[in-house]
Amino acid sequence: MISEKMQQKLNEQIQKEFFSAYLYLSMEAYFASRNLNGFSNFFRVQAQEERDHAMMFFTYVNHVGGKVRLGMIEEPKSDFQSIEEVMRMALEHEQYVTSSIYSIVDLAIEERDHKTNAFLQWFVTEQAEEEASAEGNLEKIKLIGSDGRGILMMDAELAQRVYTPPQTSQA
Ligand code: FEO
Repeated sequence: MISEKMQQKLNEQIQKEFFSAYLYLSMEAYFASRNLNGFSNFFRVQAQEERDHAMMFFTYVNHVGGKVRLGMIEEPKSDFQSIEEVMRMALEHEQYVTSSIYSIVDLAIEERDHKTNAFLQWFVTEQAEEEASAEGNLEKIKLIGSDGRGILMMDAELAQRVYTPPQTSQA
């Protein structure tokens, strides 16, 4: 079993992960509308991963005898002004998710809930990768600026990203 407080936090995380998927879909749509199909592909894969994350929390709550309660998902931003704005927002969003995961880890430690802590460690590692990837994209686009050739090269690179299901028994 998990505590009521932990159950609530895990349910909130399910909502945050689904919101992440929604936000990244909105970014995918922005790039699709600009015919930048590589950037758009990158965020499509990102959104797929976020749905996986949401379902991992969903499955875990059920697995430990808790009750999943799905909250409302707010409308994501859709009127982006530049590629750099999208990349900055993606990084800030991942930093926000990391701090949210950390706060659940803090609660797990406080409650001596070792199994939830063990479950969360996959996400701690994943968030480090997510932040590094988002930071890399932002730095690259800052260097490229409005150079069309650079943007097309980055678009071709991001077109290579392929979705792979999470390597964990929790998915
Ligand atoms: Fe599931 Fe990108 O945080």
